[in-house]
Amino acid sequence: MSDVLELTSVSVVRGSKTLLDKVDWQVNDGERWVVLGPNGAGKTTLLQIAAARLHPSSGTAGILDETLGRVDVFELRPRIGFSSAALASHIPEHENVLNVVVTAAYGVTGRWQEGYERDDERRAFALLNDWGMGPLLNRTFASLSEGERKRVQIARALMTDPELLLLDEPGAGLDLGGREELVHRLAELAGDEDAPVMVLVTHHLEEVPPGFTHAMLLRDGGVVAAGPIEEVLTAEHLSTTFGVDLDVTENAGRYTATARR
Ligand SMILES: Nc1ncnc2c1ncn2[C@@H]1O[C@H](COP(=O)(O)OP(=O)(O)O)[C@@H](O)[C@H]1O
Ligand SMILES: [Mg+2]
Repeated sequence: MSDVLELTSVSVVRGSKTLLDKVDWQVNDGERWVVLGPNGAGKTTLLQIAAARLHPSSGTAGILDETLGRVDVFELRPRIGFSSAALASHIPEHENVLNVVVTAAYGVTGRWQEGYERDDERRAFALLNDWGMGPLLNRTFASLSEGERKRVQIARALMTDPELLLLDEPGAGLDLGGREELVHRLAELAGDEDAPVMVLVTHHLEEVPPGFTHAMLLRDGGVVAAGPIEEVLTAEHLSTTFGVDLDVTENAGRYTATARR
């Protein structure tokens, strides 16, 4: 059995719609995955299962040597760092940056009366420094630029020292400079052997950070291809996934796709 993720024939059905269709997926220690697919492909749904936030309608989901449905998810979730737009929308606007990160230790988004340990504050501070946010500790989350918010969210996802880090479209809404900064930092994290196993969801091939080892392509809830990144991110597979005839180039670990005319 795979130690990190082992999905077997996982389906998610809502009414007459199949969001995920018999997905098999194995993620092992040390791997860095990117999940690519067009809007509506089921990427967020897949990540919610991996984050132990959603149960499959059928099939089994093994997460960190536990099986969803047979484990207390409140014990499992702190072992998984998760960042998504939906989660960010729950962060109170006037929360300061340090609190946005430190509250992750308690699985909440607003600081109230929890007794925080100084060690937790030190860890949050160190993570924010790592992500270039040290000078902005006391700013409110609402006052940050989109790029700064994304970095705070990743620092928050890392707060519990997770074994698995899940990032749903961390590059969404960033300008070119912000995207390049994020890709660079994610590439650095990918190269850190002490970093958790990572899964990054995006629909932009340009956001794939160098150093990522594996890729999964999703379309209409089904897996088009999955495996070592250089075998998966080909013109043929990506054209099928996005429904567009694409030329794909790779240069020093960065990928680009352009429509064939
Ligand atoms: N509760 C729901 N009921 C019906 N359809 C849903 C529900 N949640 C999501 N969907 C649909 O499922 C599909 C997959 O959604 P999602 O996982 O968010 O895709 P992605 O993240 O790849 O854009 C989309 O077409 C979406 O509209
Ligand atoms: Mg999504």
